[in-house]
Amino acid sequence: MRVIAIDGPAGSGKSTVARAVAAALALDYLDTGAMYRAVTFAAMRRGIDPEDTDLVAELARALSLEVADTVTVDGVDATIEIRSPEVTRAVSTVAANPAVRRELVQRQREWAAAHGGGVIEGRDIGSVVFPDATLKVYLTADDGERAMRRSKEMLNLQYDQVAADIARRDHADSTRQASPLGVADDAVRLDTTSRPVEQVVEEVLRLAAERRG
Ligand code: DC
Repeated sequence: MRVIAIDGPAGSGKSTVARAVAAALALDYLDTGAMYRAVTFAAMRRGIDPEDTDLVAELARALSLEVADTVTVDGVDATIEIRSPEVTRAVSTVAANPAVRRELVQRQREWAAAHGGGVIEGRDIGSVVFPDATLKVYLTADDGERAMRRSKEMLNLQYDQVAADIARRDHADSTRQASPLGVADDAVRLDTTSRPVEQVVEEVLRLAAERRG
């Protein structure tokens, strides 16, 4: 099974790069961040406190969840809503819940088995979910550039607000007990600061070709 793991913090270019690499290699693409966001969205919609670890875990296990070009949560299209500032604020709490992680990691492995591998982006893909991935890439970029990219995506938010939110999320994601954001020993680190996305994609494709031998 050919799995290309793309990890890194918010705004490092993961989604853009992962989608382009998947298209070039005719592999399917999975955004695991969207899965954590979907559970967060579902909890908020049902009035469940994201801090209530047991209830949120129970919800994650019961949830019908489809993450593809659109995100469907219990039959409802939530593609837009999972990117809202409210979900973005609460998602780190949900992602720190070990029982939620267990459930979603299992679903990610099932997805890969059903799709014959794929390009999978997240925070712990190379380190935890697919330790035997064909290729592990860890993308980084300067804090300022990451905040700039995100504030361009979110037109209604100010740069300072986005920068503060990213810093808070980076901290929460890197310091949590369960599978914190980390670089797998055998991951290739690529700094995307000031680099055109095409160049980064080329490099990942070159690495992927190398791994094929
Ligand atoms: O990539 P993103 O911003 O959509 O991710 C949303 C949140 O989910 C982020 O705060 C970190 C968390 N996440 C995670 O803990 N593990 C993953 N594999 C993917 C995302």
